[in-house]
Parts: sequence; structure tokens; C-alpha cells
Amino acid sequence: MPKINENFIKIPASYLFSEVARRVNEYKKSKPDHRVIRMDIGDIKLPLPDACVEAMIKAANEQRSASTFRGYAPDYGYDFLREAIRNNDFISRGVDIKEDEIFISDGAKSDTGNIGDIFSAENRVAVADPAYPVYVDTSAMGGRAGVPHANGQWSDLVYLPCNFSNDFLPALPGVKVDLIYLCSPNNPTGAAFTHAKLAEWVDYARKSSAVILFDAAYEAFITEADVPHSIFEIDGAREVAIEFRSFSKTAGFTGTRCGYTVVPKEVTARNERGDNVSLNALWGRRQSTKFNGTAYVIQRAAEAVYSAEGKMQVKKLLDFYKENAKAIRDGLQRAGYTVFGGTNAPYIWAQTPNSEKSWDYFDYLLKEKNIVVTPGSGFGSCGEGYVRFAAFGRQEDTDEAIRRLTEG
Ligand code: MLT
Repeated sequence: MPKINENFIKIPASYLFSEVARRVNEYKKSKPDHRVIRMDIGDIKLPLPDACVEAMIKAANEQRSASTFRGYAPDYGYDFLREAIRNNDFISRGVDIKEDEIFISDGAKSDTGNIGDIFSAENRVAVADPAYPVYVDTSAMGGRAGVPHANGQWSDLVYLPCNFSNDFLPALPGVKVDLIYLCSPNNPTGAAFTHAKLAEWVDYARKSSAVILFDAAYEAFITEADVPHSIFEIDGAREVAIEFRSFSKTAGFTGTRCGYTVVPKEVTARNERGDNVSLNALWGRRQSTKFNGTAYVIQRAAEAVYSAEGKMQVKKLLDFYKENAKAIRDGLQRAGYTVFGGTNAPYIWAQTPNSEKSWDYFDYLLKEKNIVVTPGSGFGSCGEGYVRFAAFGRQEDTDEAIRRLTEG
């Protein structure tokens, strides 16, 4: 009889967003005539930019003819997309990332989870609390988290509390860690590092030989000039950081699926003999073995994000979501909530009004207001007493949700 990976039964039986969806579906079945407004998972509601759809159609048509048909995609992505990313996301910001440091994938969720494959199970992992649950769950799956305590925290993870008193920005760890997940602009709190704050982390990683796993999936929502879009804007980051990016929220690819990971040539980790090993080479090896490339049609759609029309259309989408985030933030404040985030991120982090537990308040909002949010405690124990509103809905839904909440 085969044995299972025991780590899978130590983690909660259901992924956070699956549990939210389960409760919502159950409620909807019992109240089919209620209009439920979803402000929970960060799933976009507006359609894909036309430029991307046109590019997909053109690419699909190419598959009809032997002369333009494409089979397996290159393991790390087509050159046309890697070049567009390099020029538009990095060179344009004065950051020199090479094409062979960019690995195209099906999204940042997979990559932030899979990156653990190239690291030893003995590494000490630090995570912000609260944090995107993929960092914790996949660290546990990979045997790096130890055992769960009753409060949901894991024995071997180093938690970096983020709360009101530190502006939801984690302090440097007090103990030696090897891998550090950082997300800026942050999911779920919406907080973002300034250049100076992120430089402290890069400096720390360099001095303590740690690697930063930097999730920049929400960089397109930055509105403040002093917030870096990439960790590689910080001097020295090339030696200590890996960055994850996504087209999901930027251009509406949550269902289309495309993202990429940047692994600079300089970033290394030690083997058992104490030699430095290139993480770029290891990640490449991992991807070529376990991943067969993002579909050509999808990579052409992603390339179109950087065309002149694509840029205009993406800007329009982002402007809408940014405006929506502001409307939610302002509306919640008018309704009496204490809120954070929403300025550089599509997430608004709200305190429950009377210190209700996150899941209790989730149930109250679902059943009494027919509004779905994400319970803050699902992101970690420091998220207890908070709920997260996502700004990816339609304007009429935002207006209606704020009306319901303001009515008391
Ligand atoms: C979220 O709501 O936190 C995100 O949509 C989840 C994800 O991107 O996987």
C-alpha cells in the first residue's frame, strides 16, 4: 500500500478560497432569490482587453495551417513574450533583467508555491502574518513548516506580525531565516513597501544570506511614486531575490492564466558541500521537467498587453479597479469602518466593527447583507478581527454593497 505525503493531512482540509466558495454556495442554495455580492476572492469581473482577445484569435487561426502551427512551447516561454516583458516591465524602469532570467508560467500562484521544489526542506521560512495562504500551505506541503499549533500557526515557520502599529509592514526577523516570502503591494492588507523600507530587507537578506521570494502580483495597482514595482529596483537585490509577476489582476488573466518569475543569474543557495548553486539553473531544470509551457495562444495574448492598444486598454481596466478600490475604501469609512489599504492595491483591509471574529463577521455579512468578503483570519492569526474586501467587482455592485453597509 502506498503511503501519502503526511504533510497534506496536516494542512487545513480546504484551501481558504474554496471554503469561502463552499459556504457561499450553500447559502445561495438556501436563499436562491437573494442577490449576493462577491467581494471576496480577487477574481476580475471585467472582460479581457480587446487587444488580448484579438491576439488569441490570430494565434488560434495560425494553428489551422502547417506553416504557422506551433507544437510544444519553449520550456521557459517564447522569446517574443520574454522580450516584451524585459523591455516594458524592467528596462523601462531602469532595471536590467535579461530574457533568460524570465520564466513564463501559468501564474504567480503556481510559481510561489512550486518554488519550494528547488530548496531543501531544512530551510527556515519566514512569512508575514497575515499572508497569502499559498506561502504557508505550500511550505507545509514541502515539509518546511513543522506541525500546526491550535491557533493555526506552524511550529517551524517564523511569523512576522503585521498590524496597525507597524502599518501592516513586517519587521525584520529576530532569528536566522533562509527564505522570506514578501508581498508588496500586499495581499491581503494592501500595505506596500517604500523603496527605503524594501532596501532594508534587501540589506538584511544580503547580510544574513537569505533569499527573498518577492510576490509583486499587484504592482500594477501602485499609485504612489515612492513604492517600487519590482524588488530589482533596489540595489543588490539581484543577489538575493526572486520575483513573481502575474497578468491575472493586471490584465484580467485570472481564467486565461499567465504569469512569470524572474530568477537573476546572481541569486544562489548552498549545496551540501557548501558550494553556491545558481537558482536560475535549478528553476530552469524544475520547469523543464515539471511544466510544459504556457500555451502559445495565451502567450500571444500576454504579449498584446504591451502593444499600444493593449497598454491603453489595460490602463482603462486598472483605472476602473483603482477607482473602485477608492470607492470601497471611502464608502466603508463613511459606514464607520476602520480601513487600510486600497491605495496601492485592489484590497481593502477592514477591522470588524465590534472586534467580532473574522469568520463570524463573514457569516453576518453573508447572511444579513448578502455581501461576501474574505475572513482576515484565513490569512493568518494576525488577520483575526479583520475582513478583506476586493475591488474587482462591477461599479453597481460596489454602490449597492456600500448602500447595504451604510444602512446599518
Ligand atoms: C486572492 O483573492 O487573494 C487572490 O485572487 C488569490 C489568487 O490570486 O490566487
